[in-house]
Amino acid sequence: MKSTVLIAEDDTVQREILADILLKAGYQVRAVPSGREAIDSLREETRDLLLTDLRMPEMDGLDLLREAKRMRPDIEVVVMTAYATVKTAVSAMKEGATDYLAKPFDKDELLLVVERALERGDLRRENRQLRELVAADSSLGNIIGECPVMQKVFDVIRRSVTVASTVLIQGESGTGKELVARHIHFAGPRKAKPFIVVNCAAIPETLIESELFGHEKGAFTGADASRQGKFEIASGGTLFLDEIGDMRLDSQTKLLRVLQDGVVERIGSSQQRHVDVRVIAATNRDLRQRVESGDFREDLYFRIDVLPILLPPLRDRIQDLPLLVAHFREKLAKRLGRSVPALEPGVIDAMRRYRWPGNVRELEHTLEQLFILCDGDAIKLDDLPEKLRQRTQQPGQFELPAGGIILEDVEEDFIKQALSRSGGRIKEAAELLGLTYKTLQYRLKKHDIDRKSEESAVKPKT
Ligand SMILES: Nc1ncnc2c1ncn2[C@@H]1O[C@H](COP(=O)(O)OP(=O)(O)OP(=O)(O)O)[C@@H](O)[C@H]1O
Ligand SMILES: [Mg+2]
Repeated sequence: MKSTVLIAEDDTVQREILADILLKAGYQVRAVPSGREAIDSLREETRDLLLTDLRMPEMDGLDLLREAKRMRPDIEVVVMTAYATVKTAVSAMKEGATDYLAKPFDKDELLLVVERALERGDLRRENRQLRELVAADSSLGNIIGECPVMQKVFDVIRRSVTVASTVLIQGESGTGKELVARHIHFAGPRKAKPFIVVNCAAIPETLIESELFGHEKGAFTGADASRQGKFEIASGGTLFLDEIGDMRLDSQTKLLRVLQDGVVERIGSSQQRHVDVRVIAATNRDLRQRVESGDFREDLYFRIDVLPILLPPLRDRIQDLPLLVAHFREKLAKRLGRSVPALEPGVIDAMRRYRWPGNVRELEHTLEQLFILCDGDAIKLDDLPEKLRQRTQQPGQFELPAGGIILEDVEEDFIKQALSRSGGRIKEAAELLGLTYKTLQYRLKKHDIDRKSEESAVKPKT
């Protein structure tokens, strides 16, 4: 594509010569006689380069430069000036001009400077795009994730921000459901309105309806004043229904009605109040399965499952662990106001092997403890809590003896040691060996090991 150049020069002859040279060199050119007209032109469309005379009546080149940069930060500006005002040219560079041309200049000089300025612009844009791309790839706001699954999640989140449809976020505990819900609210058009959280599992069943819909004075024993429900409080904003899978069936029915009609009735009143609330629901249960078992209304499920977001457990996106560790290190350093220890090699590997049942939350807490308790300047394998140190053997730790080994014997030996350490309990022994219960059973038979006799008979060798 042709680069576009805007020329601002009050001298008619010079203006036409410049335009002619640049046109012939293949640029798309527009030439105007004043700063005002240059601004007008920039208002209509952006240009890659502005070539402006410094001394012009009314608005001079410096003012034009500032205004052009303000309107179009990406534009490159080259100023032209007579020898006498090279000083001014220098100050123009300080204001953001890319280069200057001292008059008189010849055709080749002009073309060289213009070309160089345009190249500089391309480079700058490319750099910025790259930076944006990198930033967008590894996080969305505070939500960190680089793996393909999280990229797909980010896509749905981005789409959810701009619309008002119900979002259903599913994922194990600690996978970031509330984090995602907050992002959707605070990145969207409702951010100035309330974000209200209702934990459906934490509120006693008898109170949940009053909590959500409100009540009038005297509606039930203990209701000595009327109260707004969370739907009313969240008006114009977002209601985050956390642990929606734990809601009782009769409350589900009432919730469905509110979602369908957009009106709430306080308990003890028949007055219908219109509410404009965006609902984001979350659960760590398998809602499909709750529907199948009759514990969750299918119609409510369909009503809230408009924009589904499934957050993967940390162990299924373990490639993101180093990124998350870096994120939490930075976050904690900021909070503590000091630098935090680095991680020795091998620590991340040990973390990668762990299953993280509490997901990102567990990782964050583990790191916090490590960083706060560690008094050296690096965290070593030995500093890790027991759960992370299990099975931290590095490949190459067991050296093959010169004369070789009998693999079957080694296997038998380790199985016996595991049984001894677990007191004969197969499940625990299997965990120590990284096997399933069934596989270990099979191997016990294969080696003809009697697990009971191993409890006391064999002691670990080392
Ligand atoms: N992808 C992520 N990037 C950065 N931080 C995360 C991410 N996921 C979770 N966290 C952090 O982990 C912690 C737990 O997240 P959150 O409370 O959103 O989890 P949850 O899914 O709602 O858990 P629960 O089901 O137990 O309520 C928070 O401190 C959150 O900031
Ligand atoms: Mg939560």
